[in-house]
Amino acid sequence: MARVVVTRPIIEEGLHPLRERYDLEVLNPVDTWDEDGLIAAAHDADALISMLSDPITARVLAACPKLRVVAQYAVGYDNIDLEAARARGIVVTHTPDVLTDATADFTWALLLTLIRKVREADRYVREGHFKRWETQLLLGHDLRDKTLGIVGLGRIGSAVARRALGFGMRVVYYNRRPANPTVERQSCARYVSFDELLAVSDVVSIHCPLNSESYHLFNQAAFAKMKPTAVLVNTARGPIVDEAALVEALEQEQIAGAALDVFEQEPKVHPGLLENDRVVLAPHLGSATVEARTAMARMCAEAVLAVLEGAEKIPYRLV
Ligand code: DGY
Repeated sequence: MARVVVTRPIIEEGLHPLRERYDLEVLNPVDTWDEDGLIAAAHDADALISMLSDPITARVLAACPKLRVVAQYAVGYDNIDLEAARARGIVVTHTPDVLTDATADFTWALLLTLIRKVREADRYVREGHFKRWETQLLLGHDLRDKTLGIVGLGRIGSAVARRALGFGMRVVYYNRRPANPTVERQSCARYVSFDELLAVSDVVSIHCPLNSESYHLFNQAAFAKMKPTAVLVNTARGPIVDEAALVEALEQEQIAGAALDVFEQEPKVHPGLLENDRVVLAPHLGSATVEARTAMARMCAEAVLAVLEGAEKIPYRLV
């Protein structure tokens, strides 16, 4: 019987088809797996359902000789060495589309929390300070007529852009290459250079994948080009932002605030961010809705089934 290892508990309903057919083990690590822990737990697996925090490196893949498929429970896959998987003939799949709306919604939730001071408002009421209606209490900022700069107009970036229309914002975007005209039209977004995006945007929102080109794309030089009134939102991947440079930019008032769902060394958060009131923080919740996470579990199971049953077409395949 094939052995399927899931590196962390996921919504059980998605796993039913696998439980019926295979020897399924759902691991329950206290913290994030490291390479040795993963190898010890999954060295004899035929299929692995992995999380974005798992280091699926060449070493881990080499130490799992029976492995036929890695089904990543995320759309992003920067934690997986795709070339090493390809070289070993291991299929890699992911979970695109089903988490697009959840992540786009959460991007707006973080942005609104930051610019309308929702966190401070909640604290104010709970602490018993609400005695009367005040004319200048916790004033935030409008979004209407402001410019949203999207870095990475892919699935999630364009969903964020479409929501911007409802807020009456202008949208510009930067990609390595202009997006296809249909996506551009649906997003009502204008292609600009990275420098222009930094210069004109009131809100900069990151939605590109993490790779060698996007690593520390937001560094000291980038923050120096942003408006001092601008805010940064990151629901993509932490290492796209140089956190030390961000802390400095906030302290020097080169930018006005940041809303972050992801961190450079997750789950660690730079102390300068923890201490700063102009930063809203979340523990990587972009796709955290029951609907999205259930669909992600189903997709991983479908991919594992397809590979282990020898299907001709493997859904959601990357490699
Ligand atoms: C993903 O799927 O890559 C997201 O970061 C999960 O929230």
